[in-house]
Amino acid sequence: METSLQVRLVFKLAVCAAFVAGAVCFCKSVQAGEARTYVGSEKCGECHADEYESYKANAKKAHSFASIKRMKKFLSDKEFQSCCVCHTLGYGQPGGFRSETETPELKNLGCETCHGPGSLHVELGNGKNIDKDFSEAMCMACHTKDRSVAFRFRPSMFGGTHNK
Ligand code: HEC
Ligand code: HEC
Ligand code: HEC
Ligand code: HEC
Repeated sequence: METSLQVRLVFKLAVCAAFVAGAVCFCKSVQAGEARTYVGSEKCGECHADEYESYKANAKKAHSFASIKRMKKFLSDKEFQSCCVCHTLGYGQPGGFRSETETPELKNLGCETCHGPGSLHVELGNGKNIDKDFSEAMCMACHTKDRSVAFRFRPSMFGGTHNK
């Protein structure tokens, strides 16, 4: 009786272990296939100085971390993490923001919020592998109705970005 229970338990554990191992392998291979990761806006500035300067000087996104850091002491860790989803670069995604100490270059929203992860574009340097066609739906993921009153896509395309 007892031994057959043990055997069953061992069997279950083995199935579990195999499942976890499979999941880990799967995640690794997805990550390996996921060639595009985040590099941070400063990197983009090396080749696109005009856009970078204009963005840093004008876009509120360039200071988005300060907005949530100010409130941190009133928030639980979980609440703060929920802010990070919209106020930092790529939080919760492969190669995205983890923490202010681990990934300081990704703490503010940046070029890649709109243009997508830029690692491959930077590596190849040939103008490819970067997003340039935006839909309103992409903005609305963060600019939800209750966050942005009267968010108007067309005018804000240029208001919240860069001038050159
Ligand atoms: C990952 C979330 C996210 C996405 C995606 C996003 N935004 Fe934002 N945006 C923000 C946050 C957060 C702020 C406010 C930053 C702050 O003040 O702390 C902001 C600010 C702005 C502002 C305020 C004005 C200013 O001078 O910066 C405009 C306009 C704007 N975004 C336009 C856009 C447009 C257009 C898109 C789509 C092409 C877009 N955003 C996509 C999160 C996002
Ligand atoms: C769903 C995405 C989203 C989440 C989650 C989110 N924000 Fe925002 N937040 C925005 C957007 C978009 C704006 C810009 C609104 C605008 O200017 O139209 C903004 C603006 C702000 C501003 C105003 C900045 C300024 O000076 O104009 C503060 C402060 C702020 N958020 C703090 C927080 C905090 C704290 C949290 C977590 C508790 C949080 N946000 C969670 C999207 C988000
Ligand atoms: C809020 C969204 C948003 C952010 C953030 C943003 N851009 Fe853009 N970017 C745009 C839009 C919109 C266009 C114009 C696309 C078009 O004309 O089809 C554009 C166009 C460009 C172009 C093509 C040349 C041009 O001016 O048409 C470059 C290069 C560029 N962006 C670089 C950057 C860099 C570098 C950053 C960060 C410093 C950045 N972008 C941040 C939305 C954004
Ligand atoms: C090593 C130099 C280099 C770096 C770093 C770089 N780019 Fe580019 N980028 C280019 C070149 C070259 C082109 C094509 C010529 C042009 O439009 O200036 C280009 C074009 C673009 C375009 C226009 C694409 C199109 O289809 O018209 C966008 C948008 C862009 N880059 C965004 C970015 C963003 C965002 C970053 C940071 C993640 C970045 N770039 C970093 C070299 C670079």
